[in-house]
Amino acid sequence: RRIIDAIADLRAHRPLAESTIRGIVDDYLGGRVTDYQMSAWLATVACTGLGPAETAALTMAYVDSGLRLTHSGAGRVVDKHSTGGVGDKVSLFVTPVVAACGVPVVKVSGRGLGFMGGTVDKLESLAGLRLDLSAAEVADTLKAVGMVITGQSDELVPGDRATYALRDVTGTVESMPLIAASVMSKKIATGAAAVVLDVKCGEGALVPGLSEARTLARLMIDIGRAADVECRAVLTDMDRPLGRAVGNAAEVREAIQALHGEVFPGYHEVCREIATQMVSLGRPELELAACADLVDRAVAGGEALRTFRRWVEHQGGDVAQIDDPDRLPSARNEIVVPATEDGWVTAIRPTEIGKAALWLGAGRFHPQASLDHSAAVLLDRQVGEQVTAGEPLARLLWNGGRPDEAEKAVRAAFRIGGRPPASSGAVLEVVS
Ligand code: URA
Repeated sequence: RRIIDAIADLRAHRPLAESTIRGIVDDYLGGRVTDYQMSAWLATVACTGLGPAETAALTMAYVDSGLRLTHSGAGRVVDKHSTGGVGDKVSLFVTPVVAACGVPVVKVSGRGLGFMGGTVDKLESLAGLRLDLSAAEVADTLKAVGMVITGQSDELVPGDRATYALRDVTGTVESMPLIAASVMSKKIATGAAAVVLDVKCGEGALVPGLSEARTLARLMIDIGRAADVECRAVLTDMDRPLGRAVGNAAEVREAIQALHGEVFPGYHEVCREIATQMVSLGRPELELAACADLVDRAVAGGEALRTFRRWVEHQGGDVAQIDDPDRLPSARNEIVVPATEDGWVTAIRPTEIGKAALWLGAGRFHPQASLDHSAAVLLDRQVGEQVTAGEPLARLLWNGGRPDEAEKAVRAAFRIGGRPPASSGAVLEVVS
């Protein structure tokens, strides 16, 4: 009855007690609430919303449904989280950079969802890399390398795992309180002292505009504060894909190139800001400008790349692929999508590029589907760049899937105009 009464309360805008919210999560995990009842509750929340206290209660119910990591003796551990986007390989770059600046990082990552990629899927392009570490292995890797990236184990926030799977198939992902509770439960359970949240906004993000991104950021920062986790949010643009590569191995390659110092459109700017904020949270005695300087030097001096290599080795991955990215999985076929007119690229719709990558097999249409790590969309032109008719806009790398559909999606993604678009940055705002 509890869940049915709670649905009626939500509809009548009566606040839910903390014990009611906890009970719902416990009952669902214990099999006393069915998938369809939980789906109805989530759908009602997605329509009516939850107040900040209820959202915090849901967050802590998820946290307490599983293990909570601690990192005693490891110093001030920091973490980051992105609300998700297309071509978002920020974690692959910032984690080793921040660790190379002397700030320990523990990152628990997830798989792709819909047209948005996931860090675990990307990293599985590296042969042998283990992403299922136990709590003891997390501690050991952190001590040895100063950074850890691992997948979400069954013991960490099972409440979020189970409800996320339902949200994904019931159209209830795009709900502020559900996003905030999902993200912050994982961050609190991971045990970091401080977290930088990359809140993406735009067509390819979970929230469309800057004002919604600000609201979501505020909600998450306040939940973190109540749980003693210091948070800052970097609001970033997702009206275009990030960087030039969308697809698992191709994104790992781009991250390695960035660790060598190469600059990719949007990617460098977002990574530099997030890494700087992470270093600043880990080393609060430093001014922001000094943190940015440390970040630049960690890349330029090669320490960030060396840290990444040591980390891959420690978690069982093949470092030959880091030393020579040509050893990463590669596709047998390539389709070039040329420009049909002269001009400037004025927009690239991220949802269409994300869908194209899905059609090529870089993502999953259903949860159990396997991936083709070599499938990718490479953007030869980004927004603001000039092109002549016949020159490539993008390339599709593929082995199977539906390259015809992917090509249509890529053509639909690009807008070409007669003059350059007004330039806009990829970092929109920092909220603390
Ligand atoms: N990322 C998460 O971890 N959870 C959400 O609900 C949305 C994005």
